[in-house]
Amino acid sequence: MMFEQKTEIIFNKNVALKTFLLGIRSQEIAAHAIPGQFVMLRIGKGPDPLLRRPFSISGTRDQDLVLILYKVVGKGTALLQEKRAGEGLSVLGPLGRGFGLPDDEQVPLLVAGGIGVAPLFFLAQTIHTTNTQIMMGFGSSNEIIPVDVMGDFKIQYSISTDDGTHGHGGLVTELLATSLEKHTWHPSSLSLFSCGPKPMLKRVAEMALEHHIPCQVSIEAVMACGMGACQGCVVRSGSHETQTYQYVCKDGPVFFSHQIDWNQP
Ligand SMILES: Cc1cc2nc3c(=O)[nH]c(=O)nc-3n(C[C@H](O)[C@H](O)[C@H](O)COP(=O)(O)OP(=O)(O)OC[C@H]3O[C@@H](n4cnc5c(N)ncnc54)[C@H](O)[C@@H]3O)c2cc1C
Ligand code: FES
Repeated sequence: MMFEQKTEIIFNKNVALKTFLLGIRSQEIAAHAIPGQFVMLRIGKGPDPLLRRPFSISGTRDQDLVLILYKVVGKGTALLQEKRAGEGLSVLGPLGRGFGLPDDEQVPLLVAGGIGVAPLFFLAQTIHTTNTQIMMGFGSSNEIIPVDVMGDFKIQYSISTDDGTHGHGGLVTELLATSLEKHTWHPSSLSLFSCGPKPMLKRVAEMALEHHIPCQVSIEAVMACGMGACQGCVVRSGSHETQTYQYVCKDGPVFFSHQIDWNQP
Protein backbone atom coordinates (compact mmCIF):
# COMPACT_ATOMS: atom_id res chain seq x y z
CA MET A 1 0.00 0.00 0.00
CA MET A 2 1.35 3.41 -0.96
CA PHE A 3 0.36 6.87 0.20
CA GLU A 4 0.90 10.38 -1.17
CA GLN A 5 0.64 12.82 1.68
CA LYS A 6 1.48 16.26 2.95
CA THR A 7 3.12 15.38 6.26
CA GLU A 8 4.22 17.59 9.14
CA ILE A 9 7.87 17.82 10.10
CA ILE A 10 8.20 17.04 13.81
CA PHE A 11 11.98 17.51 14.00
CA ASN A 12 14.97 17.80 11.71
CA LYS A 13 18.10 17.62 13.80
CA ASN A 14 21.81 17.45 13.15
CA VAL A 15 23.20 14.13 14.44
CA ALA A 16 26.68 13.97 12.83
CA LEU A 17 28.73 15.84 10.26
CA LYS A 18 26.32 16.88 7.46
CA THR A 19 23.91 14.22 8.72
CA PHE A 20 20.36 14.84 9.93
CA LEU A 21 17.53 12.87 11.49
CA LEU A 22 14.16 13.91 10.11
CA GLY A 23 10.93 12.95 11.85
CA ILE A 24 7.69 13.32 9.90
CA ARG A 25 4.20 12.48 11.03
CA SER A 26 2.43 9.80 9.02
CA GLN A 27 0.40 7.14 10.73
CA GLU A 28 -0.25 5.39 7.42
CA ILE A 29 3.39 5.13 6.32
CA ALA A 30 4.53 4.16 9.83
CA ALA A 31 1.93 1.39 9.92
CA HIS A 32 2.72 -0.09 6.51
CA ALA A 33 6.48 0.39 6.08
CA ILE A 34 8.85 -2.54 6.27
CA PRO A 35 12.64 -2.22 6.64
CA GLY A 36 14.41 -1.60 3.34
CA GLN A 37 11.50 0.35 1.87
CA PHE A 38 11.90 4.01 1.02
CA VAL A 39 9.95 7.23 0.53
CA MET A 40 10.21 9.93 -2.11
CA LEU A 41 10.33 13.42 -0.57
CA ARG A 42 9.36 16.45 -2.64
CA ILE A 43 11.79 18.88 -1.16
CA GLY A 44 11.34 22.12 -3.07
CA LYS A 45 8.27 24.12 -3.90
CA GLY A 46 7.66 24.53 -7.62
CA PRO A 47 10.11 23.19 -10.16
CA ASP A 48 13.37 23.69 -8.23
CA PRO A 49 14.54 21.05 -7.46
CA LEU A 50 12.02 19.47 -9.76
CA LEU A 51 12.19 15.88 -8.65
CA ARG A 52 11.40 13.97 -5.56
CA ARG A 53 14.40 12.46 -3.80
CA PRO A 54 14.49 8.86 -2.46
CA PHE A 55 15.33 8.15 1.21
CA SER A 56 15.20 4.91 3.14
CA ILE A 57 12.91 4.69 6.11
CA SER A 58 15.27 4.38 9.07
CA GLY A 59 12.69 3.69 11.73
CA THR A 60 9.24 4.41 13.12
CA ARG A 61 8.26 5.64 16.55
CA ASP A 62 5.06 6.13 18.56
CA GLN A 63 2.98 4.55 15.75
CA ASP A 64 2.85 7.72 13.65
CA LEU A 65 6.40 9.02 13.36
CA VAL A 66 8.53 8.09 10.35
CA LEU A 67 12.29 8.60 10.77
CA ILE A 68 14.69 9.41 7.95
CA LEU A 69 18.45 9.72 8.32
CA TYR A 70 20.03 11.72 5.54
CA LYS A 71 23.34 13.13 4.50
CA VAL A 72 23.66 16.51 2.80
CA VAL A 73 25.24 15.85 -0.62
CA GLY A 74 23.62 18.28 -3.07
CA LYS A 75 20.90 20.77 -3.79
CA GLY A 76 17.88 18.83 -2.52
CA THR A 77 19.43 17.67 0.73
CA ALA A 78 20.86 21.16 1.35
CA LEU A 79 17.31 22.52 1.10
CA LEU A 80 15.99 19.72 3.30
CA GLN A 81 18.37 20.58 6.15
CA GLU A 82 16.86 24.10 6.25
CA LYS A 83 13.37 22.78 7.02
CA ARG A 84 12.01 23.28 10.51
CA ALA A 85 9.48 21.59 12.80
CA GLY A 86 5.93 22.51 11.87
CA GLU A 87 6.62 22.86 8.15
CA GLY A 88 4.87 20.56 5.68
CA LEU A 89 6.61 18.00 3.49
CA SER A 90 5.09 16.08 0.59
CA VAL A 91 5.87 12.36 0.82
CA LEU A 92 5.19 9.35 -1.38
CA GLY A 93 5.59 5.90 0.12
CA PRO A 94 6.33 3.38 1.39
CA LEU A 95 7.93 2.24 -1.88
CA GLY A 96 9.96 -0.73 -3.11
CA ARG A 97 10.70 -4.18 -1.80
CA GLY A 98 12.24 -4.42 1.66
CA PHE A 99 14.38 -6.97 3.49
CA GLY A 100 13.23 -10.51 4.10
CA LEU A 101 13.46 -10.94 7.87
CA PRO A 102 15.80 -13.61 9.30
CA ASP A 103 14.52 -16.76 11.01
CA ASP A 104 14.46 -16.80 14.80
CA GLU A 105 17.45 -19.18 14.88
CA GLN A 106 19.60 -17.01 12.60
CA VAL A 107 22.16 -14.47 13.80
CA PRO A 108 21.59 -11.28 11.79
CA LEU A 109 24.86 -9.54 10.85
CA LEU A 110 24.31 -6.02 9.58
CA VAL A 111 27.08 -4.22 7.69
CA ALA A 112 26.73 -0.50 7.01
CA GLY A 113 28.85 2.03 5.22
CA GLY A 114 28.18 5.65 6.25
CA ILE A 115 24.60 6.75 5.68
CA GLY A 116 23.89 3.14 4.66
CA VAL A 117 23.03 2.62 8.33
CA ALA A 118 19.63 4.21 7.58
CA PRO A 119 17.64 1.12 6.44
CA LEU A 120 19.66 -1.18 8.73
CA PHE A 121 18.61 0.72 11.86
CA PHE A 122 14.99 0.09 10.87
CA LEU A 123 15.80 -3.57 10.27
CA ALA A 124 17.45 -3.85 13.69
CA GLN A 125 14.46 -2.14 15.31
CA THR A 126 12.11 -4.61 13.62
CA ILE A 127 14.08 -7.81 14.25
CA HIS A 128 14.29 -6.85 17.91
CA THR A 129 16.56 -9.69 19.02
CA THR A 130 19.53 -9.17 21.30
CA ASN A 131 21.84 -11.22 19.06
CA THR A 132 21.62 -8.70 16.19
CA GLN A 133 25.02 -7.22 15.44
CA ILE A 134 25.72 -4.14 13.38
CA MET A 135 29.11 -3.16 12.02
CA MET A 136 29.29 0.45 10.92
CA GLY A 137 32.02 2.12 8.92
CA PHE A 138 32.50 5.88 8.71
CA GLY A 139 35.12 8.16 7.21
CA SER A 140 36.04 9.81 10.49
CA SER A 141 34.83 10.08 14.10
CA ASN A 142 32.76 13.22 13.44
CA GLU A 143 30.67 11.27 10.90
CA ILE A 144 29.63 8.57 13.37
CA ILE A 145 25.86 8.31 13.75
CA PRO A 146 25.19 7.24 17.36
CA VAL A 147 22.94 4.19 17.60
CA ASP A 148 20.87 5.82 20.33
CA VAL A 149 19.62 8.65 18.08
CA MET A 150 17.12 6.08 16.84
CA GLY A 151 15.63 5.50 20.28
CA ASP A 152 15.83 2.63 22.66
CA PHE A 153 16.69 -0.59 20.90
CA LYS A 154 19.24 -3.11 22.02
CA ILE A 155 21.92 -3.97 19.54
CA GLN A 156 25.56 -5.03 19.63
CA TYR A 157 27.61 -2.72 17.49
CA SER A 158 31.17 -2.11 16.36
CA ILE A 159 32.61 0.84 14.49
CA SER A 160 35.41 1.38 12.03
CA THR A 161 36.75 4.67 10.71
CA ASP A 162 38.85 5.09 7.59
CA ASP A 163 41.22 7.47 9.38
CA GLY A 164 41.40 5.46 12.61
CA THR A 165 39.97 8.25 14.79
CA HIS A 166 37.47 5.87 16.41
CA GLY A 167 37.15 2.11 16.70
CA HIS A 168 38.90 -0.11 14.19
CA GLY A 169 41.12 1.89 11.84
CA GLY A 170 40.27 0.63 8.37
CA LEU A 171 37.35 -0.75 6.41
CA VAL A 172 34.11 -2.06 7.84
CA THR A 173 34.55 -5.21 5.74
CA GLU A 174 37.65 -5.93 7.85
CA LEU A 175 35.40 -5.93 10.93
CA LEU A 176 33.16 -8.39 9.13
CA ALA A 177 36.15 -10.60 8.21
CA THR A 178 37.32 -10.65 11.85
CA SER A 179 33.83 -11.44 13.05
CA LEU A 180 33.46 -14.32 10.59
CA GLU A 181 36.89 -15.74 11.55
CA LYS A 182 36.40 -15.33 15.30
CA HIS A 183 33.11 -17.16 15.49
CA THR A 184 32.60 -20.70 14.49
CA TRP A 185 29.14 -20.00 13.22
CA HIS A 186 27.61 -22.45 10.84
CA PRO A 187 26.86 -20.52 7.62
CA SER A 188 23.19 -21.47 7.81
CA SER A 189 22.94 -19.82 11.23
CA LEU A 190 23.98 -16.46 9.78
CA SER A 191 22.15 -13.93 7.68
CA LEU A 192 23.90 -10.89 6.22
CA PHE A 193 22.27 -7.53 5.50
CA SER A 194 24.17 -4.62 4.05
CA CYS A 195 23.84 -1.09 2.72
CA GLY A 196 26.52 1.40 1.74
CA PRO A 197 28.80 2.43 -1.10
CA LYS A 198 29.00 0.02 -4.05
CA PRO A 199 32.65 -1.09 -3.55
CA MET A 200 31.79 -2.03 0.04
CA LEU A 201 28.67 -3.93 -1.04
CA LYS A 202 30.66 -5.74 -3.72
CA ARG A 203 33.17 -6.93 -1.09
CA VAL A 204 30.39 -7.98 1.31
CA ALA A 205 28.79 -9.92 -1.57
CA GLU A 206 32.11 -11.71 -2.25
CA MET A 207 32.52 -12.61 1.41
CA ALA A 208 28.96 -13.91 1.58
CA LEU A 209 29.68 -16.11 -1.42
CA GLU A 210 32.98 -17.38 0.06
CA HIS A 211 31.30 -18.27 3.36
CA HIS A 212 27.99 -19.51 1.86
CA ILE A 213 25.96 -16.99 3.84
CA PRO A 214 22.68 -15.58 2.50
CA CYS A 215 23.12 -11.85 1.96
CA GLN A 216 20.63 -9.12 1.20
CA VAL A 217 21.80 -5.71 0.06
CA SER A 218 19.99 -2.42 -0.34
CA ILE A 219 21.37 -0.66 -3.40
CA GLU A 220 21.05 2.87 -4.74
CA ALA A 221 20.31 4.28 -8.15
CA VAL A 222 19.38 7.73 -9.29
CA MET A 223 15.58 7.75 -9.25
CA ALA A 224 13.13 10.10 -10.88
CA CYS A 225 9.75 8.48 -10.30
CA GLY A 226 10.33 5.75 -7.68
CA MET A 227 7.51 3.64 -9.11
CA GLY A 228 8.73 1.82 -12.21
CA ALA A 229 7.58 4.44 -14.74
CA CYS A 230 10.72 6.28 -15.89
CA GLN A 231 13.25 3.41 -16.36
CA GLY A 232 15.89 5.61 -14.76
CA CYS A 233 16.98 3.16 -12.09
CA VAL A 234 17.69 -0.02 -14.05
CA VAL A 235 20.51 -2.36 -12.90
CA ARG A 236 21.92 -5.49 -14.52
CA SER A 237 21.34 -8.69 -12.64
CA GLY A 238 22.47 -12.28 -13.10
CA SER A 239 25.50 -13.68 -14.89
CA HIS A 240 26.39 -13.23 -18.58
CA GLU A 241 24.23 -16.17 -19.60
CA THR A 242 21.21 -15.26 -17.56
CA GLN A 243 21.35 -11.51 -17.69
CA THR A 244 18.22 -9.55 -16.92
CA TYR A 245 17.47 -5.99 -15.94
CA GLN A 246 15.75 -4.93 -12.77
CA TYR A 247 14.24 -1.71 -11.55
CA VAL A 248 15.86 -0.68 -8.27
CA CYS A 249 12.69 1.20 -7.28
CA LYS A 250 10.18 -1.61 -7.65
CA ASP A 251 12.16 -4.89 -7.86
CA GLY A 252 14.46 -3.53 -5.09
CA PRO A 253 16.06 -1.57 -3.55
CA VAL A 254 16.76 -4.80 -1.61
CA PHE A 255 18.18 -7.73 -3.59
CA PHE A 256 20.04 -10.90 -2.71
CA SER A 257 23.69 -10.06 -3.35
CA HIS A 258 24.11 -12.91 -5.87
CA GLN A 259 21.35 -11.37 -8.02
CA ILE A 260 23.43 -8.28 -8.80
CA ASP A 261 26.08 -8.02 -11.53
CA TRP A 262 28.72 -6.21 -9.44
CA ASN A 263 30.91 -5.47 -12.46
CA GLN A 264 28.48 -3.17 -14.21
CA PRO A 265 29.54 0.50 -14.45
C1 LIG B 1 16.41 3.64 -2.49
C2 LIG B 1 17.29 4.76 -2.02
C3 LIG B 1 17.39 5.02 -0.69
C4 LIG B 1 18.20 6.07 -0.24
N1 LIG B 1 18.26 6.30 1.11
C5 LIG B 1 18.98 7.32 1.56
C6 LIG B 1 19.02 7.62 2.95
O1 LIG B 1 18.39 6.94 3.76
N2 LIG B 1 19.75 8.68 3.36
C7 LIG B 1 20.46 9.46 2.47
O2 LIG B 1 21.11 10.41 2.89
N3 LIG B 1 20.44 9.20 1.15
C8 LIG B 1 19.72 8.17 0.67
N4 LIG B 1 19.70 7.92 -0.68
C9 LIG B 1 20.45 8.81 -1.58
C10 LIG B 1 19.68 10.10 -1.78
O3 LIG B 1 18.54 9.83 -2.56
C11 LIG B 1 20.57 11.13 -2.49
O4 LIG B 1 21.64 11.46 -1.67
C12 LIG B 1 19.74 12.38 -2.79
O5 LIG B 1 18.79 12.10 -3.78
C13 LIG B 1 20.64 13.49 -3.26
O6 LIG B 1 19.83 14.61 -3.56
P1 LIG B 1 20.47 16.05 -3.72
O7 LIG B 1 19.48 16.88 -4.48
O8 LIG B 1 20.92 16.57 -2.40
O9 LIG B 1 21.74 15.78 -4.59
P2 LIG B 1 21.98 16.15 -6.11
O10 LIG B 1 22.25 17.62 -6.20
O11 LIG B 1 20.89 15.58 -6.96
O12 LIG B 1 23.29 15.30 -6.35
C14 LIG B 1 24.46 15.49 -5.54
C15 LIG B 1 25.33 14.26 -5.63
O13 LIG B 1 24.64 13.11 -5.11
C16 LIG B 1 24.55 12.09 -6.10
N5 LIG B 1 23.22 11.48 -6.06
C17 LIG B 1 22.05 12.06 -6.37
N6 LIG B 1 21.03 11.21 -6.25
C18 LIG B 1 21.56 10.05 -5.85
C19 LIG B 1 21.05 8.77 -5.56
N7 LIG B 1 19.74 8.47 -5.68
N8 LIG B 1 21.89 7.80 -5.17
C20 LIG B 1 23.19 8.06 -5.07
N9 LIG B 1 23.75 9.24 -5.33
C21 LIG B 1 22.96 10.22 -5.71
C22 LIG B 1 24.76 12.78 -7.42
O14 LIG B 1 25.33 11.90 -8.39
C23 LIG B 1 25.72 13.89 -7.06
O15 LIG B 1 27.06 13.42 -7.02
C24 LIG B 1 18.92 6.86 -1.16
C25 LIG B 1 18.82 6.60 -2.53
C26 LIG B 1 18.03 5.55 -2.96
C27 LIG B 1 17.92 5.25 -4.42
S1 FES C 1 12.85 5.40 -10.55
FE1 FES C 1 11.57 5.49 -12.27
S2 FES C 1 11.57 3.42 -12.93
FE2 FES C 1 12.69 3.33 -11.09
